[in-house]
Amino acid sequence: MISTDIQFADVAQAVEEGFSKQPKRLPSWLFYDETGDKIFQEIMRMPEYYLTACEHEILQMQKDKLLKYFFQSGTQFNLVELGAGDGFKTEVLLKHFLKERTDFEYSPVDVSSNVLAQLSERLILTLPELVVKPINKNYFEAIDEMNDDEIRKVFLFLGANIGNMIASEASHFTRKIGKAMKRGDLLMIGFDLKKDPRLIQAAYDDAHGITRSFNLNLLVRLNRELGAQFLLDQFSHYPFYNPESGLASSYLISKLDQNVYFEACDKYVHFDRWEMIHTEVSQKYDLEMIESLADASGLTVVEVFYDCKHYFCDVLMRR
Ligand code: AVI
Repeated sequence: MISTDIQFADVAQAVEEGFSKQPKRLPSWLFYDETGDKIFQEIMRMPEYYLTACEHEILQMQKDKLLKYFFQSGTQFNLVELGAGDGFKTEVLLKHFLKERTDFEYSPVDVSSNVLAQLSERLILTLPELVVKPINKNYFEAIDEMNDDEIRKVFLFLGANIGNMIASEASHFTRKIGKAMKRGDLLMIGFDLKKDPRLIQAAYDDAHGITRSFNLNLLVRLNRELGAQFLLDQFSHYPFYNPESGLASSYLISKLDQNVYFEACDKYVHFDRWEMIHTEVSQKYDLEMIESLADASGLTVVEVFYDCKHYFCDVLMRR
């Protein structure tokens, strides 16, 4: 996940910019403070949030086939995981690769030194023989930096994290990786697929209100870090999925006409009754969208791996 070494100024700037837009918005990286990280772990365990279990199933079922692709003709490779988070899903692959005596190293990339330290500490205990080379940079810096070294690379971008980018960001991102990839390098991206809208709606609006508290935690964070005075019960969690475009969007809606004071900048921000704050996109894909994303990035789809319900897919691409 994208918990970052974020400073007060980054948060203040994001809020200033986001609240001056129409409709108001907050960037989704703001979700991932310490509490947000914990709530997201809970989300991944919820029965409604099928994504994690589906991708876990894919990696478990395909680990052998993936090893054959990744460890082509037995040449060493670097498994570069962009946004590794807690790395639990990836551990399925790491364990299997070690068991098969594969010559590889693992480079989790995250902007949070904290996330990387926790992950590395855990891997030392669970997989002591694994060579871990964490990269504490944002994705783009990490990709640029790796351009010079000769070792073959397999990039992973799992967990439907690509869904949290709007279309232009997603294609900028894959184009950037595409350009950095050399002959023999691979990229595997996890995509959540379009499906019965009710299933998607439930994944973002669970019966126990866990996703609701994830969304409202944004306001808790602004109260703590910017001295804002949001009253949580005056905002409601509102996720909305459009089955045609595949776009799931989350909002916080002001239930009242109100002014909220921000101590850090000695300012009030006005919210009309039923005004929406846009907080997240979670884009759902179909095969056509995936193919055109790959095409636009100069990448070719090698194989699409599905879970048994075809809710999710991990797509292997090459340059
Ligand atoms: C991290 N990301 C892929 C999650 C998603 O499904 O968009 C974040 C999330 N937001 C609400 N629930 C989960």
